[in-house]
Amino acid sequence: MSADPRIGWPTFYAAKLSPRRSPVGTAAKPLPIILDTDPGLDDALAIAVAVARPELKLLGVTSVGGNADVHHCTDNARRLLHLYGADDVPVAEGAAGPLSGPLERATEIHGESGLGATKLAEATRPLEPGGAVALMVRLIEASPEPVALVPVGPLTNIAMLLRGFPHLAPKIAEICLMGGSVGEGNATASAEFNIYADPVAAEIVFASGLPITMIGLDVTHHATLGADDLATFAALPGASAKVAAELLAFAFARAKEWGQHEWMAIHDAVAVLHLAIPDLVGVARYRVVVDGTNGPARGRTIGDASDYRLKRDRLEANCDVGLTIDRERFVQLLVDAYRTLP
Ligand code: BDR
Ligand code: CA
Repeated sequence: MSADPRIGWPTFYAAKLSPRRSPVGTAAKPLPIILDTDPGLDDALAIAVAVARPELKLLGVTSVGGNADVHHCTDNARRLLHLYGADDVPVAEGAAGPLSGPLERATEIHGESGLGATKLAEATRPLEPGGAVALMVRLIEASPEPVALVPVGPLTNIAMLLRGFPHLAPKIAEICLMGGSVGEGNATASAEFNIYADPVAAEIVFASGLPITMIGLDVTHHATLGADDLATFAALPGASAKVAAELLAFAFARAKEWGQHEWMAIHDAVAVLHLAIPDLVGVARYRVVVDGTNGPARGRTIGDASDYRLKRDRLEANCDVGLTIDRERFVQLLVDAYRTLP
């Protein structure tokens, strides 16, 4: 009797890794980026990396309601930049909630303020007038080079930018977003938080035709810090690293309360580092569509890497999806970034 080769076929078909398509900055020619964020514990580390890496030129930071209410996220972004010695970086406030439906927050993880129990000194630089989209427009228009957008919160501001200012598309080099998952979600079994929080905006972004890298849970769940790493940060000189240690301690304590591991995925920093370090994240080409309905798969990013299906249906892949990362190297890059901060 011959064995049926189909028995035991996987139901998750990991795609073959392919060369990355997104741009990457160098110290000689830094890549201009705008970070759109909802700080947020891991957002705080992502902002640190964006400030510290010489391969990136952080043009501006825009906030969005997500992990906490938007006014907290804005305030956190401003205070974090001040802490990191980056008062030259403009900050503008973005959408308080999604394009449709109520705000989804993640305060059970990040705390009511978004930054756990940490209190930071007030920022000195005033908030930019006109809001997040207006600031993005000004920065993109003023940049001699195309700009990479790095959204690491719900995609509301980005969708509003693409909808309202389509003529700027040629000046957007890349949308390297943290969100989604080809596998399971975290906000629900179907969906990752940033996409779940504004699935309509995510649909707009993934259907935009712009170059996209999806840094989702498939890769960020391998980009973790644990108790040993907390001790490393606590021992570094400088107030910024002490704050990182504090944020990690808060996250671990929360995780313990929820009966989870004492480690934390530093999701958002992966999206930033992908634009600075060419071979840190392994990617594969996928066609990703978003479930924008309100059913049980709301916010699911459905990734198709099957050549057969795409050919059959005459469809093209629309993004790179992050799948692999060297955790040790990731941790070292974070530590190195904090060494350069005040
Ligand atoms: C994403 O959700 C937020 O809670 C984090 O800051 C990250 O951007 C992970 O699912
Ligand atoms: Ca975030």
